[in-house]
Formats: sequence, C-alpha cells, structure tokens
Amino acid sequence: MSKIALVYGSSTGNTEKVAVSIQNTLSDHQVDLYNVQECGVDFYGEYNNFIFGVSTWGEGDLQDDWDSYENKFSKLDLTGKRVALFGLGDQEEYSDNYLDAMGTVYDIVTKNGATVIGVWENIGYEFDESTALRDGKFVGLALDEDNQSKLTDGRITMWLEQIIPSFQ
Ligand SMILES: Cc1cc2nc3c(=O)[nH]c(=O)nc-3n(C[C@H](O)[C@H](O)[C@H](O)COP(=O)(O)O)c2cc1C
Repeated sequence: MSKIALVYGSSTGNTEKVAVSIQNTLSDHQVDLYNVQECGVDFYGEYNNFIFGVSTWGEGDLQDDWDSYENKFSKLDLTGKRVALFGLGDQEEYSDNYLDAMGTVYDIVTKNGATVIGVWENIGYEFDESTALRDGKFVGLALDEDNQSKLTDGRITMWLEQIIPSFQ
C-alpha cells in the first residue's frame, strides 16, 4: 500500500490529538500528517490515499481551518483518490447538528470525484440529527471527545482495521 496523507483542522486540539493517535496506530505505514491550511493544490497529486479529520463548530459549521480552506478545497479534482473521513463533535450539546461538518466534507469530496471508504455504523450514539448520516450510517468514523472519550481509542482501532485494506 502506498503512503497516506492525514489532513486535519482543529480548534481546541481534539481532532489534532486523534490525528496523531491514528498516525501512531499506523506506525507500519507511511502516514504524513498535515494541518489542512498547509495543503496547496499541487499537494493532492502526491497521494492516492487520504484521511480527512474535521470537527463541527457553530451550529453544524466547518471548523475554522476547514472553513477558510473550503473555497480552494471545493475546486480540487479528486478523481481516483481514496478518502476516509473522521469527525469530532458533541452529540449531547449539539444533538441537532452532530458531526455535520463531516457531512459537508463528504459532499465536497464525492462531488470532486473521490471514492469514500470507511463508513461507520450508528451504534452507541444518542443524538437527533446529523448530515453525516447517509442511509443510516455515518460517512466516516464518528467520535465524541466531549462525552465518550473513553471509546475513542477502541473506535479508532476498529475503523483503521476496516479501512486499511481498502487503500491502494
Ligand atoms: C461553540 C461550540 C460549537 C460547537 N458546535 C458543534 C456542532 O454544531 N456540532 C457538533 O457535533 N459539535 C459541536 N461542537 C463540539 C466540538 O466539535 C467538539 O468539542 C470537538 O471535539 C472540537 O474539536 P477540535 O478541538 O479539534 O476543534 C461545538 C463546540 C463548541 C465549543
């Protein structure tokens, strides 16, 4: 399997911490870590495999690093790329918008030609609405450091076992 670009944005460090944990868990693979703000247009030509991490802010909005990057990101050609997504949010406080930003990133990457891998079952969560749910499943790994931080490591391990064989 070729290398993976692990790209994240993070306001209080939660998504960054998860990104580092994913990189450490995948120590047998080349996983290059980037804040999304560092990623120029040419960068995307260097990888076939991507993991994007995004938290949700406001009420269903993209985290700030992703928000200011959205214009550039929306115009990328991701044809032939494999993309896995993970999202962080707070399912109790923001029950009507849990992980909506992951749904936004999903819509952009699929529109731009990427193949999304790593959907995740909606089991063990309690919330009212999320645009990250499609056909009853999350479009990527659903995490909640505010209410379920003890479940995060186990969820990461299970999800990585699922996605790694699908990378090219
Ligand atoms: C002001 C504020 C607004 C938030 N809005 C949402 C939201 O709409 N949906 C959601 O799922 N989580 C929301 N969250 C929770 C964050 O996404 C969560 O704390 C996340 O772990 C932050 O990750 P980061 O530090 O990597 O940005 C919000 C948190 C704050 C403080």
